[in-house]
Amino acid sequence: MKALARANNIADLRALARRRLPRPIFDYIDGGADDELTLRRNSSAFADYELIPDVLTDVSNIRTETRLFGQEVRWPLMLSPTGLNRMFHPDAELAVARAAARHGLLYGLSTLGTTRIEELAKEFAGPKVFQIYVFKDRGLTAEFVARCKESGFHGLALTVDTPVAGNRERDRVNGLSLPPRLTLKSFMSFALHPGWSLPALTGSKFDFANVSHKVDALASGPMSLFDYIGGQFDRSLTWRDVEWLASEWGGPLAIKGVMTPEDAKHAIASGATGVMISNHGGRQLDSAPAPIDQVAAIRDVLGDGPDVICDGGVRRGADVVKALALGATACSIGRPYLYGLAAGGEAGVDRALSLLLEELERTMILAGINDISGIRARHVRSRGSRR
Ligand SMILES: Cc1cc2nc3c(=O)[nH]c(=O)nc-3n(C[C@H](O)[C@H](O)[C@H](O)COP(=O)(O)O)c2cc1C
Repeated sequence: MKALARANNIADLRALARRRLPRPIFDYIDGGADDELTLRRNSSAFADYELIPDVLTDVSNIRTETRLFGQEVRWPLMLSPTGLNRMFHPDAELAVARAAARHGLLYGLSTLGTTRIEELAKEFAGPKVFQIYVFKDRGLTAEFVARCKESGFHGLALTVDTPVAGNRERDRVNGLSLPPRLTLKSFMSFALHPGWSLPALTGSKFDFANVSHKVDALASGPMSLFDYIGGQFDRSLTWRDVEWLASEWGGPLAIKGVMTPEDAKHAIASGATGVMISNHGGRQLDSAPAPIDQVAAIRDVLGDGPDVICDGGVRRGADVVKALALGATACSIGRPYLYGLAAGGEAGVDRALSLLLEELERTMILAGINDISGIRARHVRSRGSRR
C-alpha cells in the first residue's frame, strides 16, 4: 500500500508491476509485436504535440464530465478491454471494474476475460461495454450479443485488428503458455515471485470464462495463446459482418482497431456509432501509426456525432487533453491500469486512475480550460507544423 502511495506516475506503477510479477507475466502485459516500434511510438507520439495555454480564464472550477457510448462518464477516459486479468491479480476484472465505478468511468470487458459477462454485470452497475470478436462460430458471437443485452451492457466494441495473433516475441522467448505452466525455464522466475505465484497456484483456475464452454480444446489441457487465436479468429471478416452485428445488437457499437478516415467512414456507414482508433497497443501490426496521429483526420471525416476514442499510448493526463484538442471524444487505456492491477489489485487500479485524473485536471487548470467541452483545436499544435 505504501509503495502504491509513493507511485508518482504510471511509470512508477509499471516498475512496481515489474517487481511483483514473474518475468513471463510482466512481459505479456508490457510487450508488443515484432520490434515494438508501434508500442514505443504510441506513447512517444504524444510528445510531438504541444499544449497552447490560455491565461487569465477562471479555472476555480473544473468540469470533466462527458458522454461515451451514450452514457454519462465523470471524465473522458475508458478502461479498454484486456484479456486474462486473473493472470495479473486474483481479483482480476472485478477489481478493475470496481475502481472504474469509483471514478465513474466506462469499463470494457474482454471476450478473453477471466470473468463472466453475467458476474461482471452483477457486481458493476456502472457504464460497461463488452469487447466482442466475430468468431468463426457466428453462433457464439450471437450468444454474446444476447447475453450482453440480458445483462444490461451499454455498448459493444468489435475488435477488428486481430485476424491473426501478432508476433509477440517476448512471449515466445519466455515460453508463455495459457494457463501459465511451470517449465524449467520459467521456474526460477515464478519461484522468485511467491507473492504472485502462491495465489495463482492455489486460487481459482485460469479460464477464458466467456468462451470456455464452447472451446472444447481448452478443456483438454494447456494450450498456447497462439494456437487458440489461430483457431478461432475469422480472417474472412468484412464490413458485411459489421452490418450483421450492428443489426443484431441495435445499440451503441464501436469498431476497435480503425486507423484510417476511410475505414472510419465505412464503420459508421455499416451501422457503428463510433470508432476506437487503435493498433491494439502495438501488439498486432508493428509499424502501424500511433492512434494520436490519426485522430484529427478521422474526426474531420466523421463530423461531430460519432464517438472517436483514442486508444493506446496514454500515460499522462495531459495526453487526454491533447487527444481531445485533436478531436477525440475520449481516450482509453490498457496497460496503465494493468500495471496498477498487478502492483496492488483494486487499490493499484484506483491509484492509476487517480494519478491520471489529477494530471488531467492540473493540465486543464494550467492550460486555462475549465470545461472538457471547451477544449479546442487551438489548444494543441503539432511540433512538425511549428513555424
Ligand atoms: C495484456 C493485454 C491484453 C489485451 N487484451 C485485449 C483483448 O482481449 N481484446 C482487445 O480488443 N484488446 C486487448 N488489448 C488491447 C487493449 O484493449 C488496448 O487496445 C491497448 O492496451 C491500448 O494500449 P495501451 O496499453 O498503451 O493503453 C490488450 C492489451 C494488453 C496490454
